[in-house]
Amino acid sequence: MSHVLDSISFGAIVTVRDRLLAQQAAGRRIYRLESGDPSFDTPPHVRDAIVEALKKGHTHYTASAGIQPLREAIVKKVRRDNELPIDNAEQVVVTSGGMHALYLTFRALLDPGDEVILPDPMWTEIAENIRLGGGVPVRVAMDLESPTPWTAAQIEQHITPRTKAIFVNTPHNPTGVVLSRSSLREIVALAKKHDLRIISDEAYEHVIFDGEAHVSIGSLPGAEERTISLYSTSKSYAMSGLRVGYIVARDAAFLSRVKKLLRCTTNGVNSLAQWGAAAAVGAPQDASRMMGAVYQERRDALLAGLAGVDLLVPYVPKGSFFLWARIQPSWRGYRGARSDEAMTDWLIDEVGVGSSPGSAFGPAGAGWIRFAFSCDTREVEEAAGLVRQVLGQAGRTSSRSTGMDARPPLP
Ligand SMILES: Cc1ncc(COP(=O)(O)O)c(C=O)c1O
Repeated sequence: MSHVLDSISFGAIVTVRDRLLAQQAAGRRIYRLESGDPSFDTPPHVRDAIVEALKKGHTHYTASAGIQPLREAIVKKVRRDNELPIDNAEQVVVTSGGMHALYLTFRALLDPGDEVILPDPMWTEIAENIRLGGGVPVRVAMDLESPTPWTAAQIEQHITPRTKAIFVNTPHNPTGVVLSRSSLREIVALAKKHDLRIISDEAYEHVIFDGEAHVSIGSLPGAEERTISLYSTSKSYAMSGLRVGYIVARDAAFLSRVKKLLRCTTNGVNSLAQWGAAAAVGAPQDASRMMGAVYQERRDALLAGLAGVDLLVPYVPKGSFFLWARIQPSWRGYRGARSDEAMTDWLIDEVGVGSSPGSAFGPAGAGWIRFAFSCDTREVEEAAGLVRQVLGQAGRTSSRSTGMDARPPLP
């Protein structure tokens, strides 16, 4: 008998990580550009708050929706920084990371067979969590050649009577696309027209480049009641192992379902991690800004390092810490749509550089590759140098008949 979990993968990125770690254990120098774990130490005020909480004996059950000081700090933060019209801490639920926030949201929102529209490509776990919630992921391809890569007009063509929600992720994993206020406004208008919910994953709200502004879709007129906004402390405060995320919404019926799910599953997030998150969210956001500036340096280093590599055409990311690049047919290992898996394996074997095959992120990712630049700056620079070296003339096929190489970066 089959089960929904039989259709869920163990994750292509986990497979790459396991291969890299096995090589590291065998004494090889490896480069961890396969997954997005911030290299920074968790800020000192957050670590101090955790130690303090431990000393004070905050080691008991907490309210399953989260400790009050954290929920109140979140209310202040989302009103101030995200401009969300949130009234009080009852509209905030603390979760075990953004991943758990996604699981709870789809589980509490969807009825069997409900469709959720999401971008293609998209971080693998979104479609899987939609399926776990009983829903059907409907992928709408991004147009990375366009200045507006994901529009309401593209989305509308995929709306059916079963569509329940539009999933929005800006800044976007894996492409680094940042959706503009006007694109988001149009998505809100579309959601209103078809009476759809909006699920807004803002895990990378603080990782944004070139002076771009992060716009929370839930702050836009008409989106207030229909939007569920999801956040994570993993990337914003380098707290990935502490596992704290949160859901913000105004819909009382949805929130009460989430609270029941929490009570019957994790029954609340680790108390010490919540005290750490309260310090992170409640303090001035200088540490997040500093990290954002360093990520921009790393992005630039990676783009500069790959500038001479005409076998890869990168999309210039405006946010998140991923570089998404199209593999050119003149690469000697080119295998059409399967080139991404081939190149991921090849870069590990040749130079110990990790990456993620684009097809792990959906059909639109076939033939693309993702490099994460969340590891430290030197590692990013060295890895770029190695990729450049190995994809130089040695990586090229002798035939240049395709004429598709040497293209400039995508906008
Ligand atoms: C788009 C997106 N959303 C949510 C998350 C969840 O992160 P976490 O579970 O560490 O909070 C991630 C993690 O990589 C992500 O890429």
